[in-house]
Amino acid sequence: MVVLGIESSCDETSAAVVVDGREVRSNVVASQIPIHARYGGVVPELASRAHVLDVIPVIEKALAEAAIELRQVDGIAVTSGPGLIGSLLVGIEVAKALAFRINKPLVGVNHVEAHLMAPFVAVDEGWDPPCFPALGLAVSGGHTSLVRIDGYGQYQVVGQTRDDAAGEALDKVGKALGLGYPGGVFIDRLGASGNPSALDFPRAMRRKGNFEFSFSGLKTSVMTHLGKLDHLPQGEELADLCASVQEAVVDVLVYKAVAAAKAEKLRCVLLTGGVSANRRLRTKMMAACRKAGIAACVPPRSLCTDNAGMVAGLGFHALSGLSPEERTGFHSFDVGARSSWPVGT
Ligand code: KG4
Ligand code: ZN
Repeated sequence: MVVLGIESSCDETSAAVVVDGREVRSNVVASQIPIHARYGGVVPELASRAHVLDVIPVIEKALAEAAIELRQVDGIAVTSGPGLIGSLLVGIEVAKALAFRINKPLVGVNHVEAHLMAPFVAVDEGWDPPCFPALGLAVSGGHTSLVRIDGYGQYQVVGQTRDDAAGEALDKVGKALGLGYPGGVFIDRLGASGNPSALDFPRAMRRKGNFEFSFSGLKTSVMTHLGKLDHLPQGEELADLCASVQEAVVDVLVYKAVAAAKAEKLRCVLLTGGVSANRRLRTKMMAACRKAGIAACVPPRSLCTDNAGMVAGLGFHALSGLSPEERTGFHSFDVGARSSWPVGT
């Protein structure tokens, strides 16, 4: 089944062609980073306008790269939440128009669930293949959740952040340090040459059996540290600060993911979401899982940050679950945008 995926929930416009939920024929991403960088964060109205300009060229490019014509698409999957309403609506309305045009089914998918199931797309040699039941860690700019996954559509949230998402905390620290946007990417880059134990930032809520997260204390602690300095760190001092902040975030994510997998008796951890592109997190998660005898599935970085490949991958399972009548044509006028959409509901 050839699925066209469309993603526009935040600041990336993306389209992908994925065959049978596994084979990524194309995965095109138009990033809006240059537009939002000067504000240090996503400006929703600017995001919607950029999606309007990018969405059709991105879809055309995805089809061309896959050497697929629109009429050869068997179904369309679009992110319908959670996300920015104006941004979501752009992808959804275009998806509806295309599905209506080719008279094929359309499904709306949950963005966080698409992140969680990304390791099942483009399964590669060189990393542990994912399996059910698994413990998924979705860690992005908007979400930090530990989810027990028993199969497609079978999700149970084990723990999540009470305040900032991990990526959000990294981005805010990056902004305070005068780094570029998004801060997480710069902290990864600069932290690589720093000393992760140079500064001791808090690792919150590390009590046994507690799978909730909190990152606002870490952010405050960095701001307090900066407030005591009479200058913005540069060079080695900046590298050490980035490495130490990154280490505090990574330690908590790794510790809780492995502890939750053990508590739920799960043999497989799926590391997903934009922050899972972080090299220190990938390395430490794989090492900790290996030590605990748990498989660590860490998808390629292109499937970690926002992309439509993961949307098409998850959409395939929804589309192939439709009845034969539902599969024959377009009937999905009711797919709508949801700013909030808890996993598994
Ligand atoms: O999944 P994503 O692309 O969008 C959301 O759904 O939020 O995640 C974006 C987040 C941002 O906070 C960004 O700073 C973070 O992922 N991020 C990283 C890295 N690449 C992206 N954080 C740390 N290290 C990275 N290499
Ligand atoms: Zn995302």
